[in-house]
Amino acid sequence: MRIKVIAFIDILIEKINLKLGFSRKKSSHIICKKSDIISKEDYKKLKEAAEEFKNRFSKGEISSNKTKSFIYSKYKNGNLAEIEKEDPILKLANSIKLIELIKKDFKIERPQLYKANYWWIPPAKSGAKRDMSQKWHIDPEGNKVIKVFIYFHDVSDSCMQINPLIRRSKISSLFSKSAVGSYGLYPNSKQQKIIDKHKNNVVDLRLNEENFFIADTSHLHRGGYSKIEGRLSCFLAYKPFR
Ligand SMILES: [Fe+2]
Repeated sequence: MRIKVIAFIDILIEKINLKLGFSRKKSSHIICKKSDIISKEDYKKLKEAAEEFKNRFSKGEISSNKTKSFIYSKYKNGNLAEIEKEDPILKLANSIKLIELIKKDFKIERPQLYKANYWWIPPAKSGAKRDMSQKWHIDPEGNKVIKVFIYFHDVSDSCMQINPLIRRSKISSLFSKSAVGSYGLYPNSKQQKIIDKHKNNVVDLRLNEENFFIADTSHLHRGGYSKIEGRLSCFLAYKPFR
């Protein structure tokens, strides 16, 4: 009972901040134009690298790195040491425009890149249930975790859903006891009831190829779930420098 009261108060304060506009200073997510951060030429190179990864994987020329049941990734973990030096994803990751955007919108002094990867997600089989990061969760890395997601095609369904009201630093009372492995904090059934009461604040992120999004995944979120098309994307992850 005590947990519920504290959690409700935390969420209520967050809701008031959001209504009054205070939360806008620290975004939970933003949708941006690709052309604002990457040149046509650089985007072409990045897309070619993504397609090459997908094609080589599809032909069986490279073994897959299936870290989650529904995702194939180019690099096993996406740690910086694994990434090929000439991979165009590094140029994007170090782009001044992108880093300035993260600093400004997410109030981070020195965003530190710590992961980059390409993902190929085949369409979900009919009847498949949400698994791992497709379920509501908070990323495990810290109080701010900034992830940049770029899709190399229009996406016909949700890319991610995020609840700007519920974030790690505000709801330790709600989530602290429910860590599951190193993948994130997943709500138990009691916590899920509280979360369900705030469903109307959930933002559904939808994209076409012109856009990309940046999210602070220390907020409650869940990954997209497509039964329509396979999805080819890349992502970058930043943490505040410590
Ligand atoms: Fe996540």
